[in-house]
Amino acid sequence: MTVSVHPARIGPYAASTTPRWETLTWVALATVVAVAEHAFLRNAWYVAAWDHLIGDDLTALTILGDHICLFRRSDGTVAALADACPHRKLPLSMGRRCDDGVECGYHGLVFDGNGACVGAPGNQGRIPRGADVRSYPVVERYGLSWVWMGNPERADPADIVEIEHYGDPDWGLNTGPAMDFSCDYRYIVDNLLDPSHVAWVHDTSFAQEAARDTPLEVEKRDTGVCVSRWLYGGEVAPFYAKLVEFDGPCDRHQHYEAFYPSTALARALFTPAGTGGPDRPLHDDLFQMDSWNFLTPITEKTTRYHFFQLRNVRPGDEAIDRLMNEDVTGAFSEDRQVLEAVQRGMDAAESHINMHIDTGPLRFRHHLETLIAADED
Ligand code: FES
Ligand SMILES: [Fe+2]
Repeated sequence: MTVSVHPARIGPYAASTTPRWETLTWVALATVVAVAEHAFLRNAWYVAAWDHLIGDDLTALTILGDHICLFRRSDGTVAALADACPHRKLPLSMGRRCDDGVECGYHGLVFDGNGACVGAPGNQGRIPRGADVRSYPVVERYGLSWVWMGNPERADPADIVEIEHYGDPDWGLNTGPAMDFSCDYRYIVDNLLDPSHVAWVHDTSFAQEAARDTPLEVEKRDTGVCVSRWLYGGEVAPFYAKLVEFDGPCDRHQHYEAFYPSTALARALFTPAGTGGPDRPLHDDLFQMDSWNFLTPITEKTTRYHFFQLRNVRPGDEAIDRLMNEDVTGAFSEDRQVLEAVQRGMDAAESHINMHIDTGPLRFRHHLETLIAADED
């Protein structure tokens, strides 16, 4: 892969103003940034779809610009094939399921779930040389199908992010429908590493007064970046008030963590005021919600967004599950409106301003660019 060092491309993420304590960070980020030729890390797992939506029929999807045809084999596993017949490139998703594979809808070449051509009626039964199609490794985990978009030999299911409490009968789970955003997935990651935006974008749901200006701690980890802070003594934000079981003011912890390339966790802790803080024992009435976000780039400027929330109260309460889905979908629609407008605005004219709140997102982008630059098939 070609890697170019192109200062002009640093544009939106270079700092033209470097106030006080930020100086060192900005120097590190704005020095010379190696900009990868591509926006995507290909050797990675991406969520394709909810498992239950993949059946015997053919499903057409686009991931990282690749057109893919998904279906479930008769043994129950999921197959993912390049969605183009090698003969005249008709999408295989326009063909038919047959036995354990797919039959092209134009001249009937047949491919098994691994992409091998196993039937060629239009060629007197002889399989044309090179007639196989690319097959992508798939793993089903957490109710989702994950597709490996890089070199199949490097696909290791152990690289899929580990999700604490998933499947724990003491935890509630709500799963909403996927949403499509017309923006670069990296703007959504920026947003998911930015706890401050709730004060302006989600003022009727996640917001509380202290979210406007309480400083953030930023930690770079091997797997990504974590941004966090404690907010002391506020009211429980409206979105969570339906679930928090203690009365009165709270201490709230915001833990926003993003994993390379495009998975993010927003962990919210609420505990009675006076009992929160780093290294304090967890209070019996602690409320915790882990909001998991899985971003799958469709193209450079469109992204499919899958999510679910885990909570440590009211497991199996379907009314709460539904309410959470509605509230989360409403809040993410607010993000979508903002981020699609950000995409349009940044397309029209670059920004040259960064603030302290951008430290986490910039660190994430910086290392992701390094990973993309080093990414090889
Ligand atoms: S296009 Fe598929 S067999 Fe001809
Ligand atoms: Fe948001």
